[in-house]
Amino acid sequence: MTIAIVYASNTGNTEDLVHLLQGLFSEKQIAVSMYPVEEFPISELGRLDAIVVGTYTWGNGNIPDEMLPLYRAFEHYGRKDLVTGVAGTGDSGYPSFCGAVDEFRNMLFVQSNLAATLKIEVRPQGKDLDRCRKFVDLIVERVCKKMFSKLT
Ligand SMILES: Cc1cc2nc3c(=O)[nH]c(=O)nc-3n(C[C@H](O)[C@H](O)[C@H](O)COP(=O)(O)O)c2cc1C
Repeated sequence: MTIAIVYASNTGNTEDLVHLLQGLFSEKQIAVSMYPVEEFPISELGRLDAIVVGTYTWGNGNIPDEMLPLYRAFEHYGRKDLVTGVAGTGDSGYPSFCGAVDEFRNMLFVQSNLAATLKIEVRPQGKDLDRCRKFVDLIVERVCKKMFSKLT
């Protein structure tokens, strides 16, 4: 099972979140490659079973600039068999809470096999653990389902 987490984080909240998610995959004996978005080779999109996008939200509900090449690559190389999830941190004091998660969700729903979304208030806390675990479970279940359907 080849899974990558590709993320952007300005002040570290989203980085904390993706490391938490990586740990939850690892509890299931699933190794996940982690890439700050600037270091992610877009060609990997064709090889992965699943990709988790981790993003903060900027401006007025916007996707951060550094995530835009990845967003456009999904639009360009749409792969309906690629399992995806999008997780993000944001601040509900802004009118569009985790707006970048919504933007990715809307696009990935069309361009990929979207399995799960997750919005976290600012930085992950103990109370968020169940939702994080559920997010990881949904991604893994979807990949297993895809692999099983290929065998039958
Ligand atoms: C200028 C600015 C604009 C922001 N706009 C939004 C927004 O529209 N919606 C939202 O949910 N959070 C917004 N945030 C909050 C960040 O997304 C939030 O603090 C996030 O956890 C930062 O993640 P990071 O630590 O990974 O960079 C904004 C923060 C700043 C500084």
